[in-house]
Amino acid sequence: MSSFGTDSTLWQIGDDLIVPPIFSEEIPRSLPEEKQLEMSVHRSANPEQHFLEVVDHRTGKKHMIPVEEDTIDASIFAQLGLSVYDNGYLNTAVCRSSISYIDGDKGILRYRGYNIEDLAMHSSFLEVSYLLIFGDLPTADQLNMWTTRIMRHTFIHENMIDYLRSFRYDAHPMGMVTSALAAMSTFHPEANTALQGEHIYQNENMVNKQIFRCLGKVPTLAACAYRHRIGRAYNSPSNEFGYTENFLYMLDRLSENNYVPNPRLSRALDIIFILHADHELNCSTAAMRQMTSTGVDPFICLTGAASALYGPSHGGANEAALKMLEEIGSVDHIPAFIEEVKAKKRRLMGFGHRVYKSYDPRAKILKQIADEVFEIMGRNNLIDVAIELERIALSDEYFIKRNLYPNVDFYSGIIYKAMGFPTDFFPVLFCIARTAGWLAHWHEQLQNPIPIFRPKQAYEGEEPRNYVPIDERVAQESSPLDLQEKYLLRKNLPPMKEERDI
Ligand SMILES: CC(C)(COP(=O)(O)OP(=O)(O)OC[C@H]1O[C@@H](n2cnc3c(N)ncnc32)[C@H](O)[C@@H]1OP(=O)(O)O)[C@@H](O)C(=O)NCCC(=O)NCCS
Repeated sequence: MSSFGTDSTLWQIGDDLIVPPIFSEEIPRSLPEEKQLEMSVHRSANPEQHFLEVVDHRTGKKHMIPVEEDTIDASIFAQLGLSVYDNGYLNTAVCRSSISYIDGDKGILRYRGYNIEDLAMHSSFLEVSYLLIFGDLPTADQLNMWTTRIMRHTFIHENMIDYLRSFRYDAHPMGMVTSALAAMSTFHPEANTALQGEHIYQNENMVNKQIFRCLGKVPTLAACAYRHRIGRAYNSPSNEFGYTENFLYMLDRLSENNYVPNPRLSRALDIIFILHADHELNCSTAAMRQMTSTGVDPFICLTGAASALYGPSHGGANEAALKMLEEIGSVDHIPAFIEEVKAKKRRLMGFGHRVYKSYDPRAKILKQIADEVFEIMGRNNLIDVAIELERIALSDEYFIKRNLYPNVDFYSGIIYKAMGFPTDFFPVLFCIARTAGWLAHWHEQLQNPIPIFRPKQAYEGEEPRNYVPIDERVAQESSPLDLQEKYLLRKNLPPMKEERDI
């Protein structure tokens, strides 16, 4: 293969993000015919001069594609008449972002350049929210103003309370919260782009006001959903408290006039919120960005993001980890369980991660928080099971070879349980924290608008076929309606065909 040096006269990359047309060069046709494309990366000391060399054996051309920050512009492949097939966007960067950074091999998570460990130790959740959204840690005055503005927006409209009360007594709290987020859009028509036009979000005050509103109201909606399930009157927010303290107050106050939540538990939960506040382009954040690209208001964007989080593979993994620990039950059952995992009959929930191939830094902090919470709430034997399970797994060849370490969900479920939260409330807690990250991505995307998301599909359906009139159609061997037939049989009802005949 011909080589390509670092000679800048061959290629110049502009300062902007628009990738110029690709450089192409005819190559001899004598290269192996069975290979359609051949690729190799050319790196130079100057990172602005890295190139991916693509040899297209269909056309006999060689293309030099500029590499920027370890990415190439996928639209370049359109010039080659190709799409990039990436089932589930596992290796596709759909935006440039400065919010959070993960190095999965080294177990590093940073928000705006700050290590998660430092933020968890020294900052509050609201400080971190400010950092995520605006890019820098606030000064004392800025934090004061930020906190005041958010806490002023914790109250929700009486009609919203009526709406929440109208849910069934045992409604899943996540169903209530996602519905309430969508309903918020109807309570703030002045912020609705469908009514006012997308230009309203060119106004910084308008953007900030929605950020205050969302951060302020989400814990209140969550607390109402919690109180609804336990059949207690909803508490009004109390702005004498800090953000997380107020949330615990709304959950737990009964008739006490001077109820004050436990400050150590408030701080523990505040740190948990920091750990969950952002995690680059996870599924729900991608949903947030996708919704934002349509220009719809932030309440609806949050509804989409929170709905994605509701899925058991995303916000519900800690529940699965907790169930697994409960099922194992005691330390002496661990070896048998590990054998089942190694035989691939089970998965060790709360272990392994798409991005982290090392210890998830959030899991380390959560392990310490677990001790703090147990000291206050009493020790739960599941922590012994978890610690022993971790010890055995981390010294076992199966897990070492595959780089499987505890992730954030391994300890969070036990902590939430120890704090007395019902399992179906776990994703709601996640949702409160992640609202900060979702809003940071909303804010970033408003500043750097991108066209409406429109991924491609690789069509693999039928070739064009002639329309078949109903009398000439032949039934497939198994019909999607078979289940319906079985259902009718089970209920001793006549089959559908006979029903039609009557
Ligand atoms: C998160 C997860 C989906 C990431 O998966 P992934 O990076 O795509 O890893 P793979 O599924 O390709 O697995 C790689 C290997 O490790 C094994 N593996 C991965 N996670 C495992 C787990 N939790 N328990 C046992 N084996 C696991 C796989 O079986 C596979 O083994 P193989 O090479 O013999 O086939 C996966 O680790 C998992 O299901 N974990 C448990 C659920 C969980 O905790 N989810 C929350 C994530 S925050």
